[in-house]
Amino acid sequence: MKLKINKQPTIWIIEQIKLLAPRRKIEILDFASGNGRNSIHLVEKNRNITAIDKDSMKLVKYDHFEHINTICFDLETDQNWPLKEKYYDIIIVVNYLYRPKVKKILNLLKDGGYLFYETFSVGNEKYGSPKNPNFLLKDRELINLFGKKNEILNYFNGKVVEEKLSIKQRCLIKKTS
Ligand SMILES: C[S@@+](CC[C@H](N)C(=O)[O-])C[C@H]1O[C@@H](n2cnc3c(N)ncnc32)[C@H](O)[C@@H]1O
Repeated sequence: MKLKINKQPTIWIIEQIKLLAPRRKIEILDFASGNGRNSIHLVEKNRNITAIDKDSMKLVKYDHFEHINTICFDLETDQNWPLKEKYYDIIIVVNYLYRPKVKKILNLLKDGGYLFYETFSVGNEKYGSPKNPNFLLKDRELINLFGKKNEILNYFNGKVVEEKLSIKQRCLIKKTS
């Protein structure tokens, strides 16, 4: 199947996943996956991707890919959780933040699995959306959230030039607890 991707994927995540899991069969979860730019880019026959988002109109655009399982679900409610605990080798979260449940994401990761997190951080309000502090990470927030019991393999907080200039935080966490 030919890939149709309107937006560039999150390159550092795609490249790191190639290095961490070059050949073995893995389960990947794309949390709040949107239009699927990362899920679609990660598709390979040895990778099963689960893409979850509340917007069914977005999911329908890529639910026909053989190795992508899409789930339409509101991640911010207390409805029955549709995902298996300790099931994923890799979880990616890009441009999404819901603090009340953010720590629970780790429950879905296998021991020794990797969480890739990238989203906007404080300072971004000068350059554009999001400006609401609920959607902006504070300096070192991902380290403080996940680093006490797990290994932080990579951390960045600062200016990123993609389609436009923004302030972002990136963190790669290895689950060790
Ligand atoms: C800015 S987009 C990022 C999409 C994707 N991760 C990416 O980087 O291209 C944020 C996504 O979060 C989804 N989202 C927002 N609130 C949600 C919720 N309560 N439950 C599930 N998905 C949600 C939106 O539908 C949207 O697709």
